[in-house]
Amino acid sequence: MITIQQNPQSKIKDVSFDNLVFGKTFTDHMFLCRYRDGKWHTPEIKPYEPLTLDPSASVLHYGQAVFEGMKAFKDDQGKVWLFRPDENFRRINRSSHRMQIPEFPEDYFFEGLHQLLKLDHEWIKSGIGNSLYIRPFVFASQSTVQAAASEEYIFMIICAPVSTYYTGAEINVLITEEFSRAANGGVGYAKAAGNYGAQFYPTSEALKKGFQQIIWTDADRHEYLEEAGTMNIFFKIDNKLVTAPTNDRILDGVTRKSIIQIAKSKGIDVEERPIRVSEIVEAHQQGLLQEVFGTGTAVVVLSINSFSYRDTTYPLPKENPVATLLKEELVGIQYNKKQDPFHWTVAVH
Ligand code: COI
Repeated sequence: MITIQQNPQSKIKDVSFDNLVFGKTFTDHMFLCRYRDGKWHTPEIKPYEPLTLDPSASVLHYGQAVFEGMKAFKDDQGKVWLFRPDENFRRINRSSHRMQIPEFPEDYFFEGLHQLLKLDHEWIKSGIGNSLYIRPFVFASQSTVQAAASEEYIFMIICAPVSTYYTGAEINVLITEEFSRAANGGVGYAKAAGNYGAQFYPTSEALKKGFQQIIWTDADRHEYLEEAGTMNIFFKIDNKLVTAPTNDRILDGVTRKSIIQIAKSKGIDVEERPIRVSEIVEAHQQGLLQEVFGTGTAVVVLSINSFSYRDTTYPLPKENPVATLLKEELVGIQYNKKQDPFHWTVAVH
């Protein structure tokens, strides 16, 4: 079903696995499937190489592109595991649907993913913290500047060996009221490329002031906390975990929903509800804000050291027992070190 062309020359020996920068090194192979004449054609796996695109390729002009982020892990016995890949598959098609991109067939996706991981399995290093970041994506490839949905697309999967997302010691975030990430009826829930591109300017401005990420507030009144650039956000207030509910502005994060399920299974109270910025500030003032952390495929579970709002910085406790417990549990499942009561992991070979 898939045409496979093996790379005769692996680059793996040139890679320093101890010094990986997130998302800059890619494996030997890539998966590619073209849509034209109203259907997806036979997928191929071939040596990782640059693409040739016509300068008029629709994606370059109108940004019709969506992506996913998922990971494969290697356990101590050398077996490779995917974590909830069905969630990523469903979500890329939800994102595609919103962006008027044709949905991708399930059998192509899973067959492609498994074959690709078999070919590149040596790129996955065992040991907690090491993983293979898998980036499925699809974009409009028709040569036209007509402002209409493209009639041709390319669906690809590329893979990057990674360790931690952030290398710095501290994560300080800015709660912003100036810019907006997503609005009602928009594409905030989709992993649309432009959702990320639109964050780069405000995030760069925040970085200059020492903040690694922005926590976005609702576009309407800037009263409610939504999500950060690459992660959903959790607050532990008075021993309860609180996170914003998913809606058409917020990404339905796979790590987010996994953490909620793990927390509930540990008897931790979790509330998915709108959270006012004022509630967080008041909880901080009353000493009830115990932990703030982000979740995401790339960052996993990331404790936040401080947040800043309207020019005041609010330092957070150094100890993060709940984030630590939930991360250990999640990572234990992902690396096949702990039982997987939720049946989330899928063996590759
Ligand atoms: C992920 O966690 O997969 C993300 O979407 C973050 C990515 C933009 C680096």
